[in-house]
Amino acid sequence: MRSHFCGLVDESMIGQSVTLCGWADVARDLGGVCFIDLRDHEGIVQVVAEPSDADGNAAVVKAAAAVGYEDCLRITGVVRKRHSVNDRIRTGQVEVVATAIEVLNKAEPLPFHAHENAGEDIRLKYRYLDLRRPEMQRMMRTRIRLVQALRRWLDARGFQDIETPILTKATPEGARDFLVPARLHPGEYYALPQSPQLFKQILMVAGFDRYYQIARCFRDEALRADRQLEFTQLDMEFAWVSERDVQDAVEGMIREVFREVIGVELDAEFPRMTYEEAMRRFGSDKPDLRIELELQDVAGLVKDSQFKVFTDWATHADGRVAALRVPGGAAFSRKQIDEYGAYAAKYGAKGLAYIKLGEDGTVNSPIQKFFEPAAFEALVAAIGLRKGDLAFFGAGTYKVVSDFMGALRLKVGKDLGLVQHAWKPLWVTDFPMFEWDDEEQRYVALHHPFTAPAVDDIADLKANARIAVSRGYDMVLNGNEIGGGSIRIHRPDMQSAVFELLGIGAEEAEAKFGFLLDALRYGAPPHGGIAFGIDRIAALMAGTESIRDVIAFPKTTTAQCPMTGAPSPVPDAQLAEVHVSVRPKADKA
Ligand code: AMO
Ligand code: AMP
Repeated sequence: MRSHFCGLVDESMIGQSVTLCGWADVARDLGGVCFIDLRDHEGIVQVVAEPSDADGNAAVVKAAAAVGYEDCLRITGVVRKRHSVNDRIRTGQVEVVATAIEVLNKAEPLPFHAHENAGEDIRLKYRYLDLRRPEMQRMMRTRIRLVQALRRWLDARGFQDIETPILTKATPEGARDFLVPARLHPGEYYALPQSPQLFKQILMVAGFDRYYQIARCFRDEALRADRQLEFTQLDMEFAWVSERDVQDAVEGMIREVFREVIGVELDAEFPRMTYEEAMRRFGSDKPDLRIELELQDVAGLVKDSQFKVFTDWATHADGRVAALRVPGGAAFSRKQIDEYGAYAAKYGAKGLAYIKLGEDGTVNSPIQKFFEPAAFEALVAAIGLRKGDLAFFGAGTYKVVSDFMGALRLKVGKDLGLVQHAWKPLWVTDFPMFEWDDEEQRYVALHHPFTAPAVDDIADLKANARIAVSRGYDMVLNGNEIGGGSIRIHRPDMQSAVFELLGIGAEEAEAKFGFLLDALRYGAPPHGGIAFGIDRIAALMAGTESIRDVIAFPKTTTAQCPMTGAPSPVPDAQLAEVHVSVRPKADKA
């Protein structure tokens, strides 16, 4: 149908006749002369329809004048040098003088225009129009190149690409499962995999040594900018490894794909930080190191004050009192400070105390009155407060204070323009094995239940479960968790002990994970691995905040697809076939 791509017409073709296919990006009729910006996936070229000396070219000019936005066209014409060069497009040196214009398919008036900033719902309803936009094409192609680069790296190193089932049994990664009723087994269900975790471990038992898969994962959890119900992992597993073997290998891979796909040179060696240090300094297990602000623990400096909130938490076994110095923060108005307080409250803060040290040395602080002058001065000095600065204070449980002070650190950093223009990867290691779940009154796994503990001894693990450290690790980039993995438990007795600590009794363990325990009994090698969030890495590479921009057909934050209308009701007959009867519809939340 065509001889060339619109976006690739160049000066070497001047004088040549070309046939192009594409969409009318813009069409302008300047009274007798018409301009059409013809667009395909390679870019845009300007087409001119003008009266000619020979036959008047009337039919062509008339056809051009009738062209509307996004009409689907086939145009033949002669390439010539453009009078007014357009530096913003690749083909800006040339234009195509039309000799024939064929409308292949007329477009109806558009629901939104490619050049306007349309709402996301309408963009997702007409996703095919949205995806036509060059910006979306650019972002999607960044993802495509990322996956190509990853595969090249993996294939060159002998990783085996193996598919694992989508209709399977639950694998706990901390989210709810999607269930599929089994027609052939009334009352029984398949679960969609939250990850291929158990299959990849079993592939190591099966002797594949190194595995990878670009794997779709399904998790029924709240959606956010960096979370979808279904998302894609680069899932990897290695046999006969310790954590450094896995980390060093994949760090090299990530460095190489960043270089290849977006020309970014990441640190020669990623910094490493324990979970404890990350929480203490940044209030987060995925610290954004582009912001230099850090939290400071001040329990020792406030425990003798008269402020009960501070003294209580400063002396509480699970308490924390932390400060965040904000350089230049004395310029914050009362209203701004209140807004930060409201922001911190969203993350669980019960209040947000502060000390403001004016340029003239005057102090403004709701907590000054609770301190002896010398103690107050010592506090100000210890947190390094200089004239013109402000410090925020948080008190509460260790977890809550870390959460809201960590969130505040990011917000203040962004608001004050303190985010460096840089790439800051790191490894976070030494995660706790377990977290105590108050609601369920039991331990839950911080990574997943197959993560090996740092100690080899079962009695030791049981005796010290509360403080046990795991062999899990995360890769973090600019405040995003882009990958997570661990060395796994490869001994059945240790796996059973961990299930027990998680409140999974022997019978339940056998029913849910018997196949894994069996596999571990037949000579399972030591093994470990990691999974990277492809959507998140692609979003970072494409420079967008939302993974929806690098997923062709994502769900909205209300877990729907405006284009297809999924999810949708199904006929009763179809439900009966899969042995499902539906309770009266609950009101939608
Ligand atoms: P984890 O649960 O940490 O580990 O997932 C690995 C990576 O997948 C990405 N990710 C997501 N991306 C988009 N939407 C989501 N809902 C979502 N959830 C996770 C993150 C995360 O780092 N089986 C283990 C891996 C292992 O131990 O090898 C696992 O799934 O970038
Ligand atoms: P109050 O005396 O209750 O008005 O509190 C004095 C200051 O301490 C106010 O600025 C509160 O926002 C702040 N505050 C109260 N509770 C906390 C807390 N848990 N953490 C940090 N600041 C708090």
